[in-house]
Amino acid sequence: MSRDDLTFGWFLPTSGDTTCLGDPAARIAQSPEVFDEIVEAVDNGGFKYLLMPVNATCWEATVVASYYAARTRNVAPLIALRSGYCNPTLAAKMFATLDQMSGGRLCINLIAGISDDDTRADGILDTKEVRYEKMDEEVEIMKKLWVAPGAIDHQGKHYTVTQAIEPKPLQQPFPPFFLGGGSDYALEISAKHSTVHLFWGDKPAVIAEKIEDIRERAAKYGRRDEIQFGMRLQIICRDTEEAAWEEAYRLIAGSTKFNLANNRLGANAVEGIRKTSEANRRVWDLLEESGEEMKIHPHLWTGISTVRAGAGIAVVGTPKQVANTLDEFVDAGCSSFCLSGYPHAEAARIFSSKVLPYFEGRLAAGLPQAA
Ligand SMILES: Cc1cc2nc3c(=O)[nH]c(=O)nc-3n(C[C@H](O)[C@H](O)[C@H](O)COP(=O)(O)O)c2cc1C
Repeated sequence: MSRDDLTFGWFLPTSGDTTCLGDPAARIAQSPEVFDEIVEAVDNGGFKYLLMPVNATCWEATVVASYYAARTRNVAPLIALRSGYCNPTLAAKMFATLDQMSGGRLCINLIAGISDDDTRADGILDTKEVRYEKMDEEVEIMKKLWVAPGAIDHQGKHYTVTQAIEPKPLQQPFPPFFLGGGSDYALEISAKHSTVHLFWGDKPAVIAEKIEDIRERAAKYGRRDEIQFGMRLQIICRDTEEAAWEEAYRLIAGSTKFNLANNRLGANAVEGIRKTSEANRRVWDLLEESGEEMKIHPHLWTGISTVRAGAGIAVVGTPKQVANTLDEFVDAGCSSFCLSGYPHAEAARIFSSKVLPYFEGRLAAGLPQAA
């Protein structure tokens, strides 16, 4: 596997930022000004994409993405799309329009939703299995609509579509699809459809095994060597290792375990998320396994998982230690890194000025290419 053609992305915290996860008073509420500072650091910092998440407390991802596509020159929005939430013909039209309007700067992150409780609260009663069935069909319909010269004829289990749409996307044959999820359903759909499968943090050896599993599944679709892999990680980087660990523990000081930041359900959300999401179960199992020090690897720390769902595994260390740890994931088969840190603008500036130079000469010119 080549160690070149790497892409780096950052995360836009549209449910709010913070300087200390354990201190409610340190919360930085969402605002255009807060987002502006982060987006500027990312657009000028060598990052290729900017992840727009979705949940009840996030500002709406496609709207925020469109606004910033007009105000940036380099970075592409990576828009989270929850299956079952948006009619696929409308989604295909919105994404193709944004791809055209942004000069081909658009990626889509397919997700099934963090928990059944959360989707049910939105009025969507589908089980996770059905949400994944819909995801599979929605991507199939979007791809068909984007490449077909005329009307398509899609007769599926959940959708019947006989439409032809304009515009087609600028990126041909279509924009890159990322997918984040840990269940068998997620791995199968990634094998079939994803440009990049995204993992939350884990030990590099475990990621290498998961990559081999997904590549084997992708072989069924003739995509074994085509599918790419990425890590969604937190970064805590300081000039000395001691200062980095100090910052890590400071970040969660005062927090109560499983009182999730930015989640109105707090501790009650954890059980529901554990029940639904295998990717989250794995992250929280790693937290339990990691003991007092909360380390799963010399520079991989589970501490943030005490107070947030999802991307709670952090790379902690000096710029060189952070770069070397990311390279362990490159050796495991990853070529993309979707990163974040608290507060997000400052952490992006530290990463781009101190860690990215270690990857000079190994960066891809553009986004991962769908094929
Ligand atoms: C990289 C990544 C990003 C994700 N982003 C979101 C998100 O923005 N909103 C959300 O509700 N869930 C998000 N998820 C969570 C998935 O929706 C979750 O894992 C889901 O429950 C799928 O279940 P599974 O892991 O059992 O396949 C993300 C997951 C991963 C791995």
